[in-house]
Amino acid sequence: GTPLPATPTGEPLAAEPTDFAQRGAFLTTSSGTRLADTDHSLKAGPRGPTLLQDHHLREKMTHFDHERIPERVVHARGAAAHGTFVGYGTATPVSHAGLFAEGKETDVFVRFSTVLGSKGSADTVRDTRGFATKFYTDEGTWDLVGNNIPVFFIQDGIKFPDVIHAAKPHPDREIPQAQSAHDTFWDFVSLHTEAQHHTIWNMSDRGIPRSYRTMEGFGVHTFRLTNAEGATSLVKFHWKPVLGVHSLVWEEAQLLNGIDPDFHRRDLADAIEAGAFPQWELGIQVFEDNPEQTFDGIDLLDSTKLVPEELAPVQPIGRLTLDRNVTNYFAETEQVAFHLGHQVPGIDVTDDPLLQARLFSYVDTQLSRLGGPNYNQLPINRPHAPVNDQLRDGHGQQAVHGGVAPYKPNSMDGGCPFFAGAEDRGFIDSPVRVAEGSKVRANPASYDDHFSQARQFWLSMSPVEKDHIISAYTFELSKVYEQTIKERQLLSLANIDPVLCQEVATGLGLPAPEASLELVDLPPSPVLSQVGGEWPAD
Ligand code: HEM
Repeated sequence: GTPLPATPTGEPLAAEPTDFAQRGAFLTTSSGTRLADTDHSLKAGPRGPTLLQDHHLREKMTHFDHERIPERVVHARGAAAHGTFVGYGTATPVSHAGLFAEGKETDVFVRFSTVLGSKGSADTVRDTRGFATKFYTDEGTWDLVGNNIPVFFIQDGIKFPDVIHAAKPHPDREIPQAQSAHDTFWDFVSLHTEAQHHTIWNMSDRGIPRSYRTMEGFGVHTFRLTNAEGATSLVKFHWKPVLGVHSLVWEEAQLLNGIDPDFHRRDLADAIEAGAFPQWELGIQVFEDNPEQTFDGIDLLDSTKLVPEELAPVQPIGRLTLDRNVTNYFAETEQVAFHLGHQVPGIDVTDDPLLQARLFSYVDTQLSRLGGPNYNQLPINRPHAPVNDQLRDGHGQQAVHGGVAPYKPNSMDGGCPFFAGAEDRGFIDSPVRVAEGSKVRANPASYDDHFSQARQFWLSMSPVEKDHIISAYTFELSKVYEQTIKERQLLSLANIDPVLCQEVATGLGLPAPEASLELVDLPPSPVLSQVGGEWPAD
């Protein structure tokens, strides 16, 4: 018969509708039947009861009932934007990754987040911030999943569930929602003193950024780059905001939490809408790929340590500009799935045990968060490079694959996808030597120093930054109920610096303990201070 007109006016549908569920001018059921009414359920007479046969009522209600997916187990609250990364060509001597080539433009999607609060929590809490970037390169997707603090709480990923259990709200009362002012957090960091370095960053102004646009980002782990000749280097990635690094002061953060809990996401979206596109430079610190994987005595596989920028300057390798807001929060910000295993030729991982655990964790959580193994087919996750993966079927499968032989080699499908050698931009794992020795559950001795860099951070601060740090520890610890936990944390502070310990102890009305370890004086690192440079004497 005659086809129905696509629209009441008979206009044709858009040639390539962007969303197959919003085509045509008529409201329909999900199976495409045009609806005459969506405001009244089907009843036995105007006063009911409602009839079980009302499929439209049941479909509408069932779909609504299943609208929510689980929020991320960490980093649940996020805000994101699209943009472009342009390579400077300066990384080419150390990496042959195509996206670093001079003038090469790559589409990106960046999601910023808090770590601890739930999806509906406030933005300006004291917390670490996530800075996750998806580069849709021609050679496959590369994800750089970093934070705004250059070190992490733990050295081995097997402790990640523990630190998060300690830092999330208490299981009994589900408080506090999003801050580190509670017993289990301070219990953990005072018992696992490797966390003290990350914690002092949280207690500093870095824990309350002014804006996502004025936040640094760090890959945290050491990564391995390979150049065109096959030579490898170890690197740490840094994002430097073009607007500079700025934080809120505590009182501002508290006011904003009440007045505008969406402050950071509003700021990001408004800036982009107004054409004030936020920008960051991507930079690398480059280290020789020596067998010990150390630099200047610093273990590069220990994510609780940084390498001061005076010792290894950050070299700019490209620029990121965010210039497009998301149009559907769920489809983009919520459904995006980052993963450190998304690598491209020229960029590889190292044996950092924290990084190694992450390689497992993200896929595993996304299988349940995004409902099965096909989440890379979701529009926001789709690579911009061609995909021919021989993965088949499963929940959420959108593709209708042809052929009968999804295995390789095969002699059935009249042509099997090729393997790519290095000349075809195939991903070649760096053939680095792995450690020899017995299997063991232990850390290297270099992981034992938990305080020297926390002390260096403290000594690098200006007086006003030190005041903020003292106030932050005092406020957060004053919320702790258990006296022994406060005392144990004060001992950690004594092992960082006696003045810091004394000031916080005074604020808490407790005696200041003596350090139990010898204080190691590393030279102050001016780059760590947001105020920067020489601070005039009082
Ligand atoms: C998100 C695990 C360490 C940065 C997540 C998620 C998990 C996770 C399960 C949720 C992912 C999702 O639902 O899609 C872990 C484990 C770690 C670890 C097991 C240690 C072994 C780190 C570190 C960083 C980091 C060291 C920073 C360098 C992030 C970011 C997100 C995230 C930015 C949010 C990604 C997004 O915006 O969707 N992590 N994480 N994580 N993690 Fe980690």
